[in-house]
Amino acid sequence: MQADDELCLCFHISCRKVLNYIRIHRVKLPSQLAECGGAGTGCGWCRKQMQRLLSECQESPPSALEIEGWLEARTPQKHKYSEGRAKYRASLPNLPDSAAGATSVDLPVESDLLHGSEADGTSETDGASTPDESSGV
Ligand code: FES
Repeated sequence: MQADDELCLCFHISCRKVLNYIRIHRVKLPSQLAECGGAGTGCGWCRKQMQRLLSECQESPPSALEIEGWLEARTPQKHKYSEGRAKYRASLPNLPDSAAGATSVDLPVESDLLHGSEADGTSETDGASTPDESSGV
């Protein structure tokens, strides 16, 4: 893979962006990489590769001039990586569509979180009333 190839295909996060994030934020734990544009929080395919890069980056971080060769020695070819992800995703029985990449359509809107939704039976418009409303208080 090259620096501008996507390491997290769900969120379109490039190798370069992850490596820069590791360097700038002095990342110690793989879980911290989720703060890099949500990397690794979709289908999960990229997590092992990000862990590997984090570990190797902590041992011997590449300079800006070394990054392409450094990545080439540590990552699979771009097409094999994306084919592997496709197989991985196909093996997941209940993967939500949102794991394909976050979009505003996939994410709940604030009003769903505050007021519930018709799907979970907690909608304010479903005729249910709160205890205070039913008691006339
Ligand atoms: S490829 Fe990164 S979470 Fe799916």
